[in-house]
Amino acid sequence: MKNSEWVAILDFGSQYTQLIARRIRELKVYSEILPYNTPLKRMLADKPQAIILSGGPASVVRGRCPTISGKIFDCGIPILGICYGMQLMTKVLGGKVEPAKSGEYGRADLIVDRSDDLLKLSRRRLKVWMSHGDRVIKLPAGFERIAHTPGCSQAAIRNRQKKLWGVQFHPEVIHTEEGSRILENFFKKIAGCKGNWTMRSFINDSAREIKKRVGKERVICALSGGVDSTVLAVLLQKAIGRQLTCVFVNTGLLRKGEVSEVVQRFRKGYHIKLVAIDAADSFLKKLKGITHPEEKRRIIGREFIRVFENQVKKIGKARFLAQGTLYPDVIESKSPFKGPSAVIKTHHNVGGLPKRMKFELIEPFRFLFKDEVRLVGRELRLSPEVIHRQPFPGPGLAVRILGGVTLRRLDILREADVRIQEEIRRSGLYEKIWQAFAVLLPIRTVGIMGDERTYENVVAIRAVNSVDGMTADWVKLPHALIDRISRRIINEVKGINRVVYDVSSKPPSTIEWE
Ligand code: XMP
Repeated sequence: MKNSEWVAILDFGSQYTQLIARRIRELKVYSEILPYNTPLKRMLADKPQAIILSGGPASVVRGRCPTISGKIFDCGIPILGICYGMQLMTKVLGGKVEPAKSGEYGRADLIVDRSDDLLKLSRRRLKVWMSHGDRVIKLPAGFERIAHTPGCSQAAIRNRQKKLWGVQFHPEVIHTEEGSRILENFFKKIAGCKGNWTMRSFINDSAREIKKRVGKERVICALSGGVDSTVLAVLLQKAIGRQLTCVFVNTGLLRKGEVSEVVQRFRKGYHIKLVAIDAADSFLKKLKGITHPEEKRRIIGREFIRVFENQVKKIGKARFLAQGTLYPDVIESKSPFKGPSAVIKTHHNVGGLPKRMKFELIEPFRFLFKDEVRLVGRELRLSPEVIHRQPFPGPGLAVRILGGVTLRRLDILREADVRIQEEIRRSGLYEKIWQAFAVLLPIRTVGIMGDERTYENVVAIRAVNSVDGMTADWVKLPHALIDRISRRIINEVKGINRVVYDVSSKPPSTIEWE
């Protein structure tokens, strides 16, 4: 969603590309990440104010390497090459890069030689973050060095006349001192960006663009009730009103009260056209006797698609499907050089609908991070309850019931889970925790209740903190809170006589148990 001022990040596969985008947004400058081989003409037609060449795992001197047309360096737009981006710029413009005898990874001491533009900082020595095996040994004509480290003689370079800068270190990572200032110098002072991008302007631009693209056609939005799809639906409603139909599938695997909550919120609160399908029976039937986690996930994914497709046929012809795809989803599926990563879990969510469904996609959040979608939600005046809703997996409670999924086990889990939710909210921790939930274990243990022997189920409490769900640590909940949750579950939920607390981080565990 480009507005009048935007910058392009050409992605060479760096694990830090997301971070670059993030830092630029913090400067209130709109950025888009494009594959490194995006046709130059197409990119320039949209008039970026500046271009970043990202880092990447390849080497410009070893093996096959992603490259770029030399014409980009003549376009007169300020360019900053970071790490691989700087080495590529050097090579394409006739300088020399070679494999270093030893790489430079982690912290390095940067000494600034020229501090009059990019490196105009509060000091001339700073700690920066390096991660490179190759190094620039000869600069292209017209370039000069502006910083070095003891291990890297060309740690930052420039050709002012051609508006080209390069840094061997990573200004985007938090460990680089004054990294944000360096990026600010580049975007604001060198490239002249004003930094007027706000969530309000994002909403207005997106709504305008969606309206224009959709015309008089209809749009279907698969709704999970989670933050992303809810914010998306409200944005679409603002843009195209009654041309939008949301489809919400009750898989029977949702939490206590969730179905009516979502239906009420959409129909009464937002006045959005919502088709709610109760497919609980068919999901349960398909899951009967299934205990393997991946098989459960596959069955649920397939069933969701079947139910959704049937419903879409009933609704009638719609040209567009709106999805709440976020930036991390985009980059994971598009990363240019990484091989296929190991499948840990087959994720299912409403964004995973099959291509044969021949929809044109509307994905206004494809360049946003989750916390930015939350900001969009806040700007759209959604309630804090919706905006701060903790993530909930597509396959729902099925992956929190270890072993077979039955109606009785679902009910036990729902009752235990709602008590965790209530107590966490009551303690004021709900918004501070990434996720807190109950898991029903496939074992029974002996207990004693009122002088009677019991032989009942065990529930685990899982509470984790995370920034992006990729890594997580267990939360050190106050003992008194754990105690309260445990006592409430055991006393109030029939079928449970033991509660345990999960003290594992991710990795090596995962957040969900299946
Ligand atoms: P794991 O268990 O992989 O979970 O550590 C990471 C985050 O993703 C959520 N999760 C899912 N979300 N579809 C989703 O939309 C899924 O299939 C799925 N599986 C896990 C999980 O709740 C956690 O926030």
